[in-house]
Amino acid sequence: MNIIRNIKGTHDILPPESNKWQQLEKIVNNSCKIFGYEEIRTPIFEKTKLFSRSVGTETDIVSKEMYSWNDKDGTSLTLRPELTASVARSFIQNNLSLRSPISRLYYLGPLFRRERPQKGRQRQFHQFGIEALGSKHPEMDAEVISLAWNIILSCKLNESVILNLNSIGSNDCRENYKQALKDFLKPYLGEFSEVSQNRYKENTLRLLDTKSKKEQLILNDAPKISDYYTDKDLYHFEKVKELMQVLNIPFKVSSKLVRGLDYYSRTVFEFTSNELGAQNTLIGGGRYDSLLSDLGGKQTPSIGFAAGLERFLIAMQDDKTIPHVDIYVACLSEEAISESLFLSNKLRNLNLSVISDPLRRSLKAQMREANKINANFIILIGEEELSKGIFVVKNLKERSQKNFTKSEIMKFFKEEYKIIKE
Ligand code: HAM
Repeated sequence: MNIIRNIKGTHDILPPESNKWQQLEKIVNNSCKIFGYEEIRTPIFEKTKLFSRSVGTETDIVSKEMYSWNDKDGTSLTLRPELTASVARSFIQNNLSLRSPISRLYYLGPLFRRERPQKGRQRQFHQFGIEALGSKHPEMDAEVISLAWNIILSCKLNESVILNLNSIGSNDCRENYKQALKDFLKPYLGEFSEVSQNRYKENTLRLLDTKSKKEQLILNDAPKISDYYTDKDLYHFEKVKELMQVLNIPFKVSSKLVRGLDYYSRTVFEFTSNELGAQNTLIGGGRYDSLLSDLGGKQTPSIGFAAGLERFLIAMQDDKTIPHVDIYVACLSEEAISESLFLSNKLRNLNLSVISDPLRRSLKAQMREANKINANFIILIGEEELSKGIFVVKNLKERSQKNFTKSEIMKFFKEEYKIIKE
């Protein structure tokens, strides 16, 4: 019989890989906590119109990549392809602005886009991200980017990552610029691909991040958005750059960076990594000052970013594996079963990870297993140990061993081992 397989573009996250996921999630939770961000969890599916109205009907995500279906009452629903729209919806619906003038929120969870799967690109993937809602000032941008940088530093990725920074100006600036870009490109349109010709009509700014060398050459002479900034746009961008320098966050200005979602205004940024291959964007984000009012809420200038957990883990690949367990309790006879289970639980009460063997195997097999799962210690419990009240505790990393009574075992793991571990 054929076995049932997972869906293309989705992955099982198996041990020992799942340990790395937990390690990364811990870093994210901790960094967000020290910056004062609180977790928000929103539903996995939403009304389709939430995404079409916020991300934009002409974007790749909405026009090609969403998993949508009609519910029994005819409402079109969609598995969330990103989380900024969901956070914005929840912020408006739950009046979060009443809690505090700034809402600092973060999230971790699965998302769904029907893209062509490749390294670092899945159909179900996972993001962590933050959204800071309520401030229009550049110091908010600096805080958000600084939190991203803090996570990068904690993951030791700072050597391989670069911050690409741009401003796409406020709405007025962009409208004027789009027209200028259209006027400039009109005579060359015949030389552009069909996709780019469509973008010309529907989503002109996206033309700037074309992958075609020929189109890039033409665009080199195109007008620059920076020539269309208002005074306020210019002040904002200069201040963000100045604060990056103050905070020691290395960056380069990428004047063609526009991002693939429609809600952005002013600051946009991406952290790219040279460890990732074609899908080299680790983190993407930006300011979205009109999204909340476009969705029917109060004018709430906001900024955030999101990062792919899978991509972070690829970039962190050579990180050493964390030990899976502290102690393996080897049970060497039927009489020793109760003691093994009892002692294991007492050790777990010290917040140590402990595994005891339920297969009644030979000492040799249990030793092999303990080494395989990267245990730090093994404790042997057999008939002889029970009758003498003395147990062998082997340190598998240092290849040494000691004989301990039960109370000495507890004392050692409570006092000395805790210190070694920290
Ligand atoms: P995004 O650029 O669409 O932005 O996605 C952010 C990150 O999610 C990407 O840089 C990448 O690491 C990861 N990612 C995206 N698609 C995939 C995929 N198919 N497979 C694996 N990883 C993927 C957003 O989602 C915005 N909501 C970010 C944001 C938050 N802007 C303001 N606040």
